[in-house]
Amino acid sequence: MRVLGIETSCDETGIALFDESEGLIKDLLYSQIDLHRDYGGVVPELASRDHIRKCLPMIDQALRESKTTPSQISAIAYTEGPGLIGALLVGASIAKSLALAWNIPAIGIHHMEGHLMSTQLTSDPPKYPFVALLVSGGHTQLMACEAPGAYEILGESVDDAAGEAFDKVAKMLGLGYPGGPAVAKLATQGRPNQYQFPRPLTKKPGLNFSFSGLKTHTMNTLRKLPHCSNQDRADVALAFEEAVVETIQIKCARALEKTGYSTLVLAGGVSANARLRKALDLLSQERHVNINYPELRFCTDNGAMIAIAGFLRKAQWSNCDHTIVARPRWPMNELGGINP
Ligand code: KG4
Ligand code: ZN
Repeated sequence: MRVLGIETSCDETGIALFDESEGLIKDLLYSQIDLHRDYGGVVPELASRDHIRKCLPMIDQALRESKTTPSQISAIAYTEGPGLIGALLVGASIAKSLALAWNIPAIGIHHMEGHLMSTQLTSDPPKYPFVALLVSGGHTQLMACEAPGAYEILGESVDDAAGEAFDKVAKMLGLGYPGGPAVAKLATQGRPNQYQFPRPLTKKPGLNFSFSGLKTHTMNTLRKLPHCSNQDRADVALAFEEAVVETIQIKCARALEKTGYSTLVLAGGVSANARLRKALDLLSQERHVNINYPELRFCTDNGAMIAIAGFLRKAQWSNCDHTIVARPRWPMNELGGINP
């Protein structure tokens, strides 16, 4: 049984093939970074047009290189949402059209469930129940995951997502797009304790996040520096990164306490951040809990996470029709269980 995965929610075209017995047999990724770089962020119309250019040739390549014929594919999984509407529609239209032609189901996957399922692509996947921290460019959320598909949102960002804050701070620091890795790299040159940045919402109870004030604080700090040297910028990058990381660490500790679960799972683009991984590793050691995060290549958007999520939702394949559905907004707690 093989599943073709198609990811087109933002600025990466991801195509993958997941095989029930062999695991991930193909994983192709095309990043549009060069296309959007001059604009300092993703231009939605350019993203959609590029997905149109890349999607079918990449599917063709994946089938060819893995010696897979359409008759060997049991289902297609595509990102139904959340994401950019035009970009999502490209993936949805291609998935549903191929499904019609090949007479197989095409199942729409929630992008954040895809990120969560990227942790299943290892030989030692996390065991339910666990607390999941999903941190990407569009989302920051803590979830109690009782079983596949049974998720309770414990807390989420009330404004900017962590990745979005990284991207905006990168712009302030004159760094390129995407900002997260660039800020992290600059922060390695920073000197600790040069600035005291707030840890938003950590003094109040609760598990929500707010990164917008931290962003403003960064901007004000930079404005107050008369001659901002490279060392100053690195110090600010470090202060910002440490503030985000410590805030997340505090909230993860609270979520583990609240649920009583003994496993913490980390996924999404920001889970590639080395300082965050180190801080959560430390937390897991102190609290004697297990920690699990995806391989670096599966942290940011990819087709493999969508393919495996589609495979894990096979109980729903028989309910799929040919309607082309894309949901730019799709609260994760509206997702049904995996084995209803
Ligand atoms: O999951 P993802 O690829 O796309 C979304 O679903 O949004 O996440 C992209 C986000 C961007 O905001 C990017 O700056 C951030 O993840 N990111 C990082 C790192 N690598 C990617 N943020 C901090 N440190 C990193 N190493
Ligand atoms: Zn993502």
